[in-house]
Amino acid sequence: MRRTKLWRNAKLVTLAGDQPWGMLEQGAFASQGEHLQWVGPLAELPEDLRASVVSEVDLGGAVVTPGLIDCHTHLVYGGQRAHEFEMRLNGASYEEIARAGGGIRSTVAATRNATEHQLYAQAAHRVLKLLAEGVTTLEVKSGYGLSQAAETKMLRVARRLSGLGVDVRTTYLGAHAVPAEFEGRQDEYVQAVCDWLPALRRDGLVDAVDAFCEGIGFSPAQTRKVFEAARALGLPVKLHAEQLSDQGGTQLAAEFKALSCDHLEYLSDAGVQAMAASGMVATLLPGAYYFLRETKLPPVQALRDAGVPIAISTDHNPGTSPTLSLLLMLNMACTLFRLTPEEALRGVTIHAAKALGLADRGQLVAGQRADFCVWDIEHPNELSYYFGRNPLRQVARGGAERK
Ligand code: NIG
Ligand code: FE
Repeated sequence: MRRTKLWRNAKLVTLAGDQPWGMLEQGAFASQGEHLQWVGPLAELPEDLRASVVSEVDLGGAVVTPGLIDCHTHLVYGGQRAHEFEMRLNGASYEEIARAGGGIRSTVAATRNATEHQLYAQAAHRVLKLLAEGVTTLEVKSGYGLSQAAETKMLRVARRLSGLGVDVRTTYLGAHAVPAEFEGRQDEYVQAVCDWLPALRRDGLVDAVDAFCEGIGFSPAQTRKVFEAARALGLPVKLHAEQLSDQGGTQLAAEFKALSCDHLEYLSDAGVQAMAASGMVATLLPGAYYFLRETKLPPVQALRDAGVPIAISTDHNPGTSPTLSLLLMLNMACTLFRLTPEEALRGVTIHAAKALGLADRGQLVAGQRADFCVWDIEHPNELSYYFGRNPLRQVARGGAERK
């Protein structure tokens, strides 16, 4: 008989069913192995499961949510860019700094110069901060190497981070910026990005492929090339789209059945419709919006009206979002983007899972992974309410408690 673990006396935020928050007051749940076997009121626990319970925890009425998912990060990199923050405060714009060779390129230099060991040590430190707030699944992008060797190095580091007790999904972002050695040869660089992909995939380093489709990044035509290379290898795509201008990247991404488009401040109505029709997730990144002091809001109401699932993420990176708090992003999603606290929580659970193409997590229902957080709060709306307070009591991944 399987060994069953039982947790009872919880306020379960299942995010499933018709109730607001999928709330189950006085709920209980049972896991076998890494998955939830049963979720419901304790009185309805099936007899055979009850008989196989080997451990039982009384949660004392605490709020339990699915484990949090940070679905868009650039966590592996060398150095930091506080001096550019200072330059921006002295009047320079993000785009000006990028065009002058700073921005992404300065992080590329620092990343190339760092050893794998150094990159791992720095990234691990960051990951532990995210985990302390209940993150159980994390996406990490490459894109600060921009050579085959350095992109490989970044992705290897990203893979190793799973040893810290988190599921890591890796995304190849070779098309993040044109490195100095390809200056003036953008199309050749795009070809190189495509040429590096088969080996990265063969080494098991890539779960998805992303690009930065932007005036200071890559054109839709160049992005298409990268997406075609991904498709040839059966890899899903996602896109940094319409962050600083409307390039029509979302429509292109829809053609390729992308998992998500991310940022989206300049998303048009046509883009919203394309996303809805293709079933894509809109990943909103309030940290970057805030840190760049953007004033153009993503079209949240239009996304809602069209039924596009909205994910929220840190976008952790040294240039536009040096935050390590996904809980703070919940608050900012509400204060800046006017999401409801429930929408914000769905954005870092069920919708974030979808943005990564993962159907086995993000809700508390039987059959899903037993990834969950226990919070010292009375209602899940408090997760978006506080900023700078971490009410996490306990986190479990695959049914095993982590802290
Ligand atoms: O998601 N937009 C492009 N990439 C990052 C920023 C990268 C950087 O400035 O280092 C982002 O905002
Ligand atoms: Fe990003």
